[in-house]
Amino acid sequence: MTQRIALVTGGTGGIGSAICEALADQGMKVVAGYSNEEKAIAWQADQKAAGYDFIIQHVDVTSLESCQQAVAAVTDKTGASIDVLVNNAGITRDGFFKKMAWDQWHAVMSTNLDSAFNMTRPVIEAMLEKKWGRIINISSVNGEKGQMGQANYSAAKAGLHGFTKALAQEGARNGVTVNTISPGYILTPMVAKIDQGIQDKIVAGIPVGRMGQPSEIGRAVAFLAAEEGGYITGSNLSINGGQHMH
Ligand code: CAA
Repeated sequence: MTQRIALVTGGTGGIGSAICEALADQGMKVVAGYSNEEKAIAWQADQKAAGYDFIIQHVDVTSLESCQQAVAAVTDKTGASIDVLVNNAGITRDGFFKKMAWDQWHAVMSTNLDSAFNMTRPVIEAMLEKKWGRIINISSVNGEKGQMGQANYSAAKAGLHGFTKALAQEGARNGVTVNTISPGYILTPMVAKIDQGIQDKIVAGIPVGRMGQPSEIGRAVAFLAAEEGGYITGSNLSINGGQHMH
């Protein structure tokens, strides 16, 4: 069987790196999408030293044109179309809603939700045609339960669930699965930004008593992306240490 090609947006970040590693461990050719070139080049070198041979590709997920160009570039670099797309790139602009500015709302909607259109639209037709594809959208526990200080982020991440379920129905007959993973609080630079006192309150509300590790998300993405994942579609996998059960 030919090697599967995976593109992970935000691939050089906290959760993104673990996703890239898990997919590569499963034998895929992995392309990490990045926004910061200097960081990406250093990341690629560090990964090489650790035994991973990743391709890196600039992509601005807020721009349809940039996503189209990135998909074309990945096809050039790998000689094949993308089999697995992980919509992972995301940002926070936290603040209580009564003080939230339009820019905070818009930045999060555009990076965390418009990105699903921008990145998936250029890959879906080839997946449907070859009758195989895996689209995995990284949402959040806060898109499931809502989180104070995150009206923007919770709205965008909740939107990914609707996107997943609609597209899963469109892809089902052509072997294209679409699923969501909803991580809880994972030890990444994004979570490290939260004030320590608030982090302590959050951990106190997590039944397993700790934050998650990026590898605990990466493994789940690889599970959904596997050849044997063809019967899992339109689902949401919550990985949050028991913080939210529904
Ligand atoms: N859990 C529990 N309590 C929280 C809380 C949380 N997540 N967020 C805020 N609070 C509490 C604060 O402890 C504080 O309580 P006290 O008045 O008792 O001290 C009260 O709410 C007001 O908070 P601040 O004093 O911090 O208010 P602020 O205006 O200075 O800041 C804020 C507001 C930027 C929203 C800040 O509270 C904050 O960063 N909160 C964390 C929000 C959060 O959980 N973000 C998740 C980021 S990680 C992520 O998004 C990844 C993912 O998918 C899970």
